[in-house]
Amino acid sequence: MSVVNAVSHEAQLLEKARTRTALIGVVGLGYVGLPLAVEMARAGYRVLGFDINPRAVDGINAGRSHVQDIASETLAGFVTAGRIAATTDLARMREPDCIAVCVPTPLSKTRDPDVSYIVAATDSVARTLRAGQAVVLESTTYPGTTRDLMLPALEKRGLKVGEDFFVAFSPERVDPGNPRYNTRNTPKVIGGVTAACTRVVSALYEPAIDTLVPVQSPEAAELVKLLENTFRSVNIGLVNEMAIVCDKLGVDVWEVIEAA
Ligand SMILES: NC(=O)c1ccc[n+]([C@@H]2O[C@H](COP(=O)([O-])OP(=O)(O)OC[C@H]3O[C@@H](n4cnc5c(N)ncnc54)[C@H](O)[C@@H]3O)[C@@H](O)[C@H]2O)c1
Repeated sequence: MSVVNAVSHEAQLLEKARTRTALIGVVGLGYVGLPLAVEMARAGYRVLGFDINPRAVDGINAGRSHVQDIASETLAGFVTAGRIAATTDLARMREPDCIAVCVPTPLSKTRDPDVSYIVAATDSVARTLRAGQAVVLESTTYPGTTRDLMLPALEKRGLKVGEDFFVAFSPERVDPGNPRYNTRNTPKVIGGVTAACTRVVSALYEPAIDTLVPVQSPEAAELVKLLENTFRSVNIGLVNEMAIVCDKLGVDVWEVIEAA
């Protein structure tokens, strides 16, 4: 692809972000995808959501939310205004300018992340990938998934990443039910495969998210999520141990935590 084209795909997406004329695709409309779709719509974009579950899709198109943090009235308002629509027709993935992949990554029997949903969603995106699209992986996964698993499948279309299309990892950090932090005010880490990928994805997300935290690579963004989850697990483990010790000694664990 020529340099002229390379500049124009990035420039076109930056302009579509500035004018909110980009169509945002969200793949997987669950606890992560539906709140993201709503924030993107609130920011002024039109959103096309994809899910393989027809009940979820029908519910969304009827303005019924199946996600705790999203009120049906809020969703219905965006659906009626034509800002959010959902479909099971994965061939329509050609339409969005930006595609956020928010599919599940449950742990397998051997406690490894089951990336089969990411593989399936990536295949769907790859089938219709066109120049001028940005693809963002949001699912929690192991470091290397974006570059080693997702990127090669997308590159099979013969387009050049960072010039014709753009790829980044941006971990979802939503804490469902949290009264203070939601999709909009939780800082969002973005690591693009190239600097242009980070610029494009940051510009597309900027209207919907209060604070963006760009990092140098998808691996750095993947490691941010791993560190955050590990840090939380270690803390939970530590406090649970402390609670057992306090219980045995007849001490109030909350007094100890607060005084410390
Ligand atoms: N829920 C949370 O608190 C939370 C927080 C941070 C990160 N995450 C991560 O975000 C990701 C999504 O989690 P979630 O809780 O939103 O999951 P979820 O199960 O609530 O929703 C996932 C949706 O994806 C759909 N789906 C599955 N395969 C698909 C495909 N190939 N194409 C289109 N749709 C498909 C499912 O039908 C479902 O509706 C996971 O990786 C999870 O680890 C979740």
